[in-house]
Amino acid sequence: MEETKPQSIPVQAAASLPELVTFRNVTKSFGEGPHARVAIKDVSFIVHDLPNVGELIAIVGPSGCGKSTLLRIIAGLLPHFPPTSGEVIVFGKPIEKASADRGVVDQKYSLLPHLTVLDNIAFGLMLRGMSRRERRDRAREWMGKVDLEGSEDKYPSELSGGMQQRVSIAATLILQPKILLMDEPFGALDPKIRLQMQELLVRLWNEQQGTVFIVTHSIEEAVYLGDRVFRMATNPGRLVEIVSVPRPNESPEVMRKRPEFTQMTQELLRRLEEDAPALGELPGRHAWAK
Ligand SMILES: Nc1ncnc2c1ncn2[C@@H]1O[C@H](COP(=O)(O)OP(=O)(O)OP(=O)(O)O)[C@@H](O)[C@H]1O
Ligand SMILES: [Mg+2]
Repeated sequence: MEETKPQSIPVQAAASLPELVTFRNVTKSFGEGPHARVAIKDVSFIVHDLPNVGELIAIVGPSGCGKSTLLRIIAGLLPHFPPTSGEVIVFGKPIEKASADRGVVDQKYSLLPHLTVLDNIAFGLMLRGMSRRERRDRAREWMGKVDLEGSEDKYPSELSGGMQQRVSIAATLILQPKILLMDEPFGALDPKIRLQMQELLVRLWNEQQGTVFIVTHSIEEAVYLGDRVFRMATNPGRLVEIVSVPRPNESPEVMRKRPEFTQMTQELLRRLEEDAPALGELPGRHAWAK
């Protein structure tokens, strides 16, 4: 695993493409003086705008290393945004605030409890002023894409966690964000549903060709989904390694049985554990190997 650009695009070619997200020495501290806490320090990277193929960046690292901070800075969300120092350029410009071109999906699903599934999916289109008929037609299409037909008139509380997460993904992707930011989106799901969700994400992402940043505690998920894996370390939170991995061209069940896949996940796991706190200090340490 050497540090390279995405395998599908030669290094020189990628370097000449427009930059989609650029971090230059980005540092974020919370608090002041002796109580200041550095969430991320001196983080620099470039994600290029690859033609017709969005890149998928998987972010891994121990708890507290700043994964959510990094994602929320790209999203432009308070209190993580703006950073304390450094430069964040998205679509060639410094970002000022959150915007629908950067969609966020997190573990909490963020659905509106008083709206039906269909209206939750159509909600963003309503905010954009689309007519009721058109937005409901589009939302119905998305119900199919995330395999939720028949649940249009249900409320979020009537759905399982996996179904709620699919609603949340549809509600975000229907707005066609150029950048999708996912913070441990499948963390609360059981392993079988989680694999189905990974496949679904790959399918939708291939269709939509947006760039995805996904934070995950599962190394297998990172290696399966990612074009590149950003490995972060803690104290201070920082980006320590960028690893290129193959694109998912098979189901997770098939891919995880391949020796190269196992080798890559084991190696990444080993490197993570070198940086991680001593055994027992990290909550759910076994979760790395999920
Ligand atoms: N709103 C906040 N106010 C103060 N400190 C914060 C805030 N958000 C994050 N931090 C601190 O910044 C550091 C990085 O937090 P962050 O949530 O980005 O980590 P993480 O890698 O996402 O962790 P986890 O895997 O547990 O979700 C931590 O020390 C955390 O305590
Ligand atoms: Mg987090």
